[in-house]
Amino acid sequence: MMPLVIAAAADVAQGIRSFDLVQPDGSELPPFTPGSHVKVQVPSGSVRKYSLCNDPSERHRYVIGVKRDDNGQGGSVSLIDRTAVGDTLPTSLPDNAFPLNEYARSYVFIAGGIGITPIMSMIRSLGELGPPWKLIYLTRSAEETAFLEELDAPELRDRVTIHHDHGDLARSFDLWPVLERPGTAHIYCCGPRGLMEAVRDMSGHWSHGNVHFESFDEGGEVRPDDKPFIVKLAKSGRAFEIPVGKTILGVLREQGGCEIASSCEAGTCGTCRTTLLAGEADHRDMVLMPEEFDTQVMVCVSRAKSAELVVDL
Ligand code: FES
Repeated sequence: MMPLVIAAAADVAQGIRSFDLVQPDGSELPPFTPGSHVKVQVPSGSVRKYSLCNDPSERHRYVIGVKRDDNGQGGSVSLIDRTAVGDTLPTSLPDNAFPLNEYARSYVFIAGGIGITPIMSMIRSLGELGPPWKLIYLTRSAEETAFLEELDAPELRDRVTIHHDHGDLARSFDLWPVLERPGTAHIYCCGPRGLMEAVRDMSGHWSHGNVHFESFDEGGEVRPDDKPFIVKLAKSGRAFEIPVGKTILGVLREQGGCEIASSCEAGTCGTCRTTLLAGEADHRDMVLMPEEFDTQVMVCVSRAKSAELVVDL
């Protein structure tokens, strides 16, 4: 972790604060690519993942946008309420589980709420002369919309659609006209799970490699009907119980089950893809296609519907 200093902090929308993090001596920061995130140790002690939203060509600062989540585990509240300009925040090197394909001929960005942050770094990196792009930005209200002034600028009107649903499902934006006709564009979607699932369901006829997701829910969410289950490793014959609130990846790592490569740990990047030999998985990722459900499992988020899974590890 690098001890970075908060050089500026500002409320950029209702419940969203941005922080500029810099080196204490003002020197250049390690470079990052569009879509990158850093991990920050917040005052409560927990480590949270935040996307960088500034232009990657900026080397003097990392800018993160933090949404206050009063119902979360306290990380965002501690960062917003218990820090001030001049404080130091232990911060990881940037990592990228949501990289922008720089060879794409065009882009469709779909952001829900605070999911705009990695997409801002992508849009900024493309500049004015880059490939064509459009952004669909879905938020509850204008007051809760970060970067509203910048994205609502007249020169971006033909590229940016901002829609507020005011918390009313009946006023949800219809994404089907955007996704109906598959093309060569690459789709980048970041936001709440419901939005990502809607985009995944409506883009099944797109080339699989052209649709990309980023989630902030590391390890996935705990659902009321979650149950413990057993994972058996076929190669070693060892078995591990996966309790509620822990992931297969986390348990195997903690208990020295075996090494599994991972990156996003949120079910979106595909790195932890593992062959499933027996059992029925409860797939919670955004990567697998239905035809892969019986033979593959993303161990960073998915669980089991059966009492036991056997994986090829
Ligand atoms: S680590 Fe990214 S999908 Fe599991």
